Amino acid sequence: MHNALLLLIAGALRVLGQNNWDPHPVHSDSNVSFILIGDSTTANGTTPNSGGWGNGFCASLWDGTPCINRGKNGATTGTYVAEGYWSAALSDVEQQVAAGRRTIVTLQFGHNDQKVALAESMAANLTYMANTLKSAGAVPLLVSSLTRRGFNGSTVSDTLQPFAEASLDVARKLLLPSIDLHGASLKYVNKIGVDAAHRLNRLPNDNTHLNPAGVVVFGQLVADLVAKVLTGLPFEQTNGWNISAQLAAGEAIF
Ligand SMILES: *[C@@H]1O[C@H](CO)[C@@H](O)[C@H](O)[C@H]1NC(C)=O
Ligand SMILES: *[C@@H]1O[C@H](CO)[C@@H](O)[C@H](O)[C@H]1NC(C)=O
Ligand SMILES: *[C@@H]1O[C@H](CO)[C@@H](O)[C@H](O)[C@H]1NC(C)=O
Ligand SMILES: *[C@@H]1O[C@H](CO)[C@@H](O)[C@H](O)[C@H]1NC(C)=O
Ligand SMILES: *[C@@H]1O[C@H](CO)[C@@H](O)[C@H](O)[C@H]1NC(C)=O
Repeated sequence: MHNALLLLIAGALRVLGQNNWDPHPVHSDSNVSFILIGDSTTANGTTPNSGGWGNGFCASLWDGTPCINRGKNGATTGTYVAEGYWSAALSDVEQQVAAGRRTIVTLQFGHNDQKVALAESMAANLTYMANTLKSAGAVPLLVSSLTRRGFNGSTVSDTLQPFAEASLDVARKLLLPSIDLHGASLKYVNKIGVDAAHRLNRLPNDNTHLNPAGVVVFGQLVADLVAKVLTGLPFEQTNGWNISAQLAAGEAIF
């Protein structure tokens, strides 16, 4: 528990950007950048009904690697475009590409899309986004939806599967990289069980959004999945703790 507490504090500090405790070097010459596009399960948690893996993922990269979290709580693939978040993210992408960086753009939706339309509609919207990003010179990376942590007995009740499949299908059709965050997070959350899963909740009854511990856990899970599909990325080898083995083994960290 003592270790877990230290990790929680270290993680929270790092996620909040107060990382002067961490002696690792700044690499100011990064030739890679990340832009994160998605809903509240990617977003940084500064608004209510928010709190996703994005900032935890950014914390897994060398300092000096641009990593811009454009996750927006409540967004569907439709509203993200209609309300201007897409054009803001695209302008970040254009700047990073113009700076000569290999610009990787994650696309993760589903939690809100499933409330408004079928998975096919989300797939069509993701196809448009991915093609536009490709034309802009970026690398789109499709990410299937982070699982919710509501349980029925000892198993997560999942409703996101069709949307997760739709995201991965877009990647297959367009020959783009993807990570199955839905599958990996579902497996992990089922393994750690209901109590440990709920210790990652932003609020006790909020099984969707993440507290600082959840941001660390799922941020690193995303980083570990990305490292398997894309090479040459500036992942920090020791970001103050090393939870990758525990994640792979399905062990609770907090
Ligand atoms: C980025 O920099 C690294 C290390 O300096 C180098 O190995 C890699 O080839 C570079 N990648 C690109 C796309 O320039
Ligand atoms: C969090 O994200 C929002 C929306 O993109 C942004 O306006 C805000 O500056 C971000 N805050 C931090 C601390 O990164
Ligand atoms: C896809 O985008 C259209 C607008 O272009 C929107 O009407 C539709 O709801 C979106 N689908 C989803 C699943 O968000
Ligand atoms: C919970 O699981 C039981 C047993 O598998 C099943 O009968 C029931 O329909 C499930 N309830 C919900 C709300 O999914
Ligand atoms: C982190 O843990 C993994 C798995 O145990 C190991 O392969 C890796 O070398 C560790 N990284 C560091 C920097 O210690």
